Amino acid sequence: MDALRVRSLSGEGDEETSGSFVDLFRGCAPYIRAHLGAIMVIHMGGEVVEDPNFTSIMDDLGLLRLLGARLVIVTGARPQMSTLLQQAGIKEEFRDDLRVTSKEALKVIKAAAGFVRIEVESALSRGARGGAAGDFHVAGGNFFSAQPVGVRDGVDYGCTGEVRKVEADRIRAQLNEGGVVHLTCIGYSGSGEVFNVNSVDLAAKCAASVGASKLIYIADGYLEDATTGEIINSMRLSEARSLLSRYEKKKSNNGEAVAAGSGAGAMAAVDVEKDSPPAEVEMAGGVAADKEAAVGGGSAGDVHGVEQRLMRLTEKAVMALTQGVSRAHVVPPTSGALLQELYTRDGAGLLISRDMILVPRTPEQLEADINEFFVITRDETVLGVAFFKRYGQDHAEVGCLAIHRDYRKRGWGEAMLSYLERVALASSVKHLFVLSTVTMQWFVERGFRESQVSDLPPERRESYNWERMSKIYHKTLGGGVRAVDAEELLWDVRGMI
Ligand SMILES: CC(C)(COP(=O)(O)OP(=O)(O)OC[C@H]1O[C@@H](n2cnc3c(N)ncnc32)[C@H](O)[C@@H]1OP(=O)(O)O)[C@@H](O)C(=O)NCCC(=O)NCCS
Repeated sequence: MDALRVRSLSGEGDEETSGSFVDLFRGCAPYIRAHLGAIMVIHMGGEVVEDPNFTSIMDDLGLLRLLGARLVIVTGARPQMSTLLQQAGIKEEFRDDLRVTSKEALKVIKAAAGFVRIEVESALSRGARGGAAGDFHVAGGNFFSAQPVGVRDGVDYGCTGEVRKVEADRIRAQLNEGGVVHLTCIGYSGSGEVFNVNSVDLAAKCAASVGASKLIYIADGYLEDATTGEIINSMRLSEARSLLSRYEKKKSNNGEAVAAGSGAGAMAAVDVEKDSPPAEVEMAGGVAADKEAAVGGGSAGDVHGVEQRLMRLTEKAVMALTQGVSRAHVVPPTSGALLQELYTRDGAGLLISRDMILVPRTPEQLEADINEFFVITRDETVLGVAFFKRYGQDHAEVGCLAIHRDYRKRGWGEAMLSYLERVALASSVKHLFVLSTVTMQWFVERGFRESQVSDLPPERRESYNWERMSKIYHKTLGGGVRAVDAEELLWDVRGMI
């Protein structure tokens, strides 16, 4: 090397650096921050272990941990149990989707659960020791205690158990030390008896006990809007409850879970009150719209099974959300789906999130345009207020947004705004606008952009007060309810319920 030449790289390679990778990576940054230190309980059934995508799913879990999430993995082993029981010539017995476990069957079930444990822990260790996921330990053992289900409706469930207590402090201690906790469906009683516990239920109870921010089920199947054919990618708790009660009603009407047709196109319809007001929520404007949902996915001819499984997961998700878990997800067992679900706005699966408690005043209590006002109340105290007024097909104004002085900086303002964004989406409004003289920055930080009087709908332009000279901010609502959910996460809504 006789001579060195120095040259500037600026201006070179711009095309590569501004490519989709950089945009994508930058887009993930807010989600990485949001999930840093978050406890996530992730359930996978035994079928995931048999799936060709298993290795990549485990690698994704390792990456999640590397990105700062604290993971508890809960595994089931139903298909492995079925195979081993069949090989041993032992007949399987289920009642209402719960396995009846004889002493003889328990021996085989322990082997199936052990097999899944080894597969999962070895895959995690591969990531931990040599792979990209970094160095961490996997902790398993007696992190929960079990008790017998006993005799129900005359059926003796034998060695089938249920969760008695989750050792939340011990689990958190492991997570704080950088470990990943792994629970299987095998639980022990205080006197050393062994029980076969339903892992879907265990995951939900564990998430609630450890104060997880997420409960994630990795499972096949999805819900579709039966009218539009669109996949439903987010639901509120109230909508999930409504879905479940319709499913139960349908089941009891039919005498069994609904099965329809076969093949990939087969759907078992379940009504969902999409975007309807939850039990605790009454909306002054009333934007409830009945929609029908259908269940899809799974193997051909298995609509009944897919539907039953999705409803079971939804039921447990509802239980966990009711007990304080912020969000529940059902993510397909495909490579990268977990990462897409957690680090992108549109996700890859179904998100179920909690409701807010918004209650309207009665018409007697408010003035003539009561239907445009929304209030947040706790007991008899009004904590916040805002109006939502439509202009034509596409526009709506949010105004008078105010939170009680003693309750500010707790996320209530953001909660009210995101609620109104949902109201807007449910009524097909595309553009929200606000007029403000002092709170401009607050709206800008929540996705609004300054606009002009000429951008207002004609009717509102006419009533614009030129003396007051309020500034105008617009927000275009794209991406549907899921986008509102995603933004809410980034706003870090604290202790809303
Ligand atoms: C603006 C308002 C509704 C926000 O309600 P809130 O429940 O406190 O809001 P959130 O908890 O969701 O957000 C609080 C954050 O907004 C910030 N914020 C509050 N007022 C702000 C303003 N005028 N400009 C910029 N940021 C503001 C707070 O400092 C806080 O930030 P931090 O979390 O970094 O500390 C509330 O402050 C209020 O009622 N203000 C008086 C009425 C008003 O100006 N309404 C707007 C009419 S269009």
